[in-house]
Amino acid sequence: MLLPCALLAALLAAGHAGVLFYVPRDSEVSAAGELSDPLCVRSWFVAARKQRASQFVSLILPGAARSLVQVELVLLPALVFDFIPANPCCSLPCQNRGVCMTTGFDRYECDCTRTGYYGENCTTPEFFTWLKLILKPTPNTVHYILTHFKGVWNIINNISFLRDTIMRYVLTSRSHLIDSPPTYNSDYSYKSWEAYSNLSYYTRSLPPVGHDCPTPMGVKGKKELPDSKLIVEKFLLRRKFIPDPQGTNVMFTFFAQHFTHQFFKTDHKKGPGFTKAYGHGVDLNHIYGETLERQLKLRLRKDGKLKYQMIDGEMYPPTVKDTQAEMIYPPHVPEHLQFSVGQEVFGLVPGLMMYATIWLREHNRVCDVLKQEHPEWDDEQLFQTTRLILIGETIKIVIEDYVQHLSGYHFKLKFDPELLFNQRFQYQNRIAAEFNTLYHWHPLLPDTFQIHNQEYTFQQFLYNNSIMLEHGLSHMVKSFSKQSAGRVAGGKNVPAAVQKVAKASIDQSRQMRYQSLNEYRKRFMLKPFKSFEELTGEKEMAAELEELYGDIDAMELYPGLLVEKPRPGAIFGETMVEIGAPFSLKGLMGNTICSPEYWKPSTFGGKVGFEIINTASLQKLICNNVKGCPFTAFHVLNPEPTEATINVSTSNTAMEDINPTLLLKEQSAEL
Ligand code: HEM
Ligand SMILES: *[C@@H]1O[C@H](CO)[C@@H](O)[C@H](O)[C@H]1NC(C)=O
Ligand SMILES: *[C@@H]1O[C@H](CO)[C@@H](O)[C@H](O)[C@H]1NC(C)=O
Ligand SMILES: *[C@@H]1O[C@H](CO)[C@@H](O)[C@H](O)[C@H]1NC(C)=O
Ligand SMILES: *[C@@H]1O[C@H](CO)[C@@H](O)[C@H](O)[C@H]1NC(C)=O
Ligand SMILES: *[C@@H]1O[C@H](CO)[C@@H](O)[C@H](O)[C@H]1NC(C)=O
Repeated sequence: MLLPCALLAALLAAGHAGVLFYVPRDSEVSAAGELSDPLCVRSWFVAARKQRASQFVSLILPGAARSLVQVELVLLPALVFDFIPANPCCSLPCQNRGVCMTTGFDRYECDCTRTGYYGENCTTPEFFTWLKLILKPTPNTVHYILTHFKGVWNIINNISFLRDTIMRYVLTSRSHLIDSPPTYNSDYSYKSWEAYSNLSYYTRSLPPVGHDCPTPMGVKGKKELPDSKLIVEKFLLRRKFIPDPQGTNVMFTFFAQHFTHQFFKTDHKKGPGFTKAYGHGVDLNHIYGETLERQLKLRLRKDGKLKYQMIDGEMYPPTVKDTQAEMIYPPHVPEHLQFSVGQEVFGLVPGLMMYATIWLREHNRVCDVLKQEHPEWDDEQLFQTTRLILIGETIKIVIEDYVQHLSGYHFKLKFDPELLFNQRFQYQNRIAAEFNTLYHWHPLLPDTFQIHNQEYTFQQFLYNNSIMLEHGLSHMVKSFSKQSAGRVAGGKNVPAAVQKVAKASIDQSRQMRYQSLNEYRKRFMLKPFKSFEELTGEKEMAAELEELYGDIDAMELYPGLLVEKPRPGAIFGETMVEIGAPFSLKGLMGNTICSPEYWKPSTFGGKVGFEIINTASLQKLICNNVKGCPFTAFHVLNPEPTEATINVSTSNTAMEDINPTLLLKEQSAEL
């Protein structure tokens, strides 16, 4: 009997949207054992699930198989599928980062190697794991300690041995949560050379949910996820602007967008799991271009500098016409306003072009400094060394100003690669799709943009580079520093102008088959939420979410992060920080320049270049490149400064870098 597999294959290939379920009679099985080929039947169910053909089931009745004429079509919606065991890894049985591997169609094994746990599902802790579990404080406790007891921290921050020890702990405990070398990607849920070596993929912290699983989240929740547009409208869309209680400003908002768009550059042509940024980290391709070809178009080829133009005595990026380095602009943008920079999309928002201009000026400024030190160097060496210095400055500013602000910690973070030199740490990084998704911080955006007594709607603001020329960088920096950004967690704070982006984040997460919010919490050492109320910290949204998702274990990652109960007085909830921080710190410290052979003065042109990195700050970057050295920070001044509260030594951490009289002048000007 050659029938079953070949027949099934032929019928399926002929576009028969269904599964042929062959039920052999007992007698037949014994008479012609090859008929009841269970592997074949099972694999067709798998194939059918992939084709989402579960509504149609054709049943070959017992005995009918021999005569092809008698194939009866019976509609058995989904019912039959519940009989057939799903891929056993769909239920995500392996705990504590154990790896699930199928062994045959209906069995699995958990590989608990080096997880610190053992047992069928890696659930039994080894003794030392058990001890650690007892002693380890919860992330919320650690966060509480770091954001309170200011007096104690002021002392600790001043004792370098303690500060170094704590910083080393922060870096290692966070980065150990990131697989390095990377493991999965959106097409490979098992380790493979392809997933490791193909840099066009974002990596994945958790493998995708199998296509053959009963529900989009594995086995939990409903067969279909709620409409993504509905999720956005009900839970994410802003009703009234909710300012961030940590005082984050628009200066921070655009820094975030500018900085992250060097490594979040999805290749939508290939799909949401693919990136165009092969450097997978802080390589400053947003300043220098992703390819050598683009870089050469942007370079002046003299003294290491980038091309520029002078307008009203100030340096601005060149135009596309000058460089031939293409940018994305709508056709109505006039030629002289089509500025050309490393990242193709930075014409989108004047806030991005402002930072692009600041970094362009910084590059050319550092080139001048280096040329003073090294009149013997050619254009190439000046360019290359300046690029490394700017990478260093970026990491320094991101850790000590940007992450410092976001964390809300009284503990003073420190950028010092030497802290990791005697640790187990890999100097490499691969950007994860989940990191990209969680970084969709569009709630930061205000409703309108305020610049020097003028107010711009999104409509007027987007693709409008004339704003930058009209006001100049100085006014932009001053205004952005004063304007509050929105709170990210807590729900209902995505501005209507970008609600489509929020919907796209959800749709793309589904396309990439992300596991549930709770699986991600477990992956990053957090306890899964037990209820929707525990997630949101309130009842109204929780009830509606429960109705739509059915099961807290089926709640999706991205909407989960945005509706999560924020920590007290904070911009984010626990999950955003505990998942985001490991990706972030690994990406920053895993940079090549932080490795022992690179991290030395000669790499950066000597003491002077090294010093530029080690003293970099946001305020200094602005002072060195923006006329009038406007006061800036990543938060609005809070409380609003009055004569009485102006306190030069406490009002701002960037203080040591700026001229106090200037600060006073700036602040009183606002009164
Ligand atoms: C006026 C401001 C902004 C606008 C108009 C805007 C708009 C967009 C759009 C249209 C996308 C592509 C969505 C898609 O189809 O996948 C996107 C992606 C993204 N946005 Fe924004 N956005 C803005 C500000 C921000 C800010 C402040 C952040 C903060 C970090 C941010 C983070 C991201 C990230 C991480 C992505 C994914 C990028 C990628 O994968 O290539 N955006 N945004
Ligand atoms: C392991 O997980 C499976 C599936 O969730 C469950 O049926 C089984 O009882 C678990 N085994 C143990 C030892 O807990
Ligand atoms: C911190 O240390 C510096 C010198 O290392 C000292 O001048 C300063 O007074 C110290 N501050 C506190 C609060 O201990
Ligand atoms: C990476 O994978 C994608 C998708 O399979 C493929 O199109 C691309 O050619 C691969 N890239 C390399 C360098 O192999
Ligand atoms: C762009 O900004 C300029 C300068 O502030 C403003 O006059 C103009 O109306 C804006 N353009 C659009 C299309 O809104
Ligand atoms: C400024 O802060 C310092 C240290 O906290 C304090 O000693 C000083 O009295 C404050 N000055 C003013 C004017 O509030």
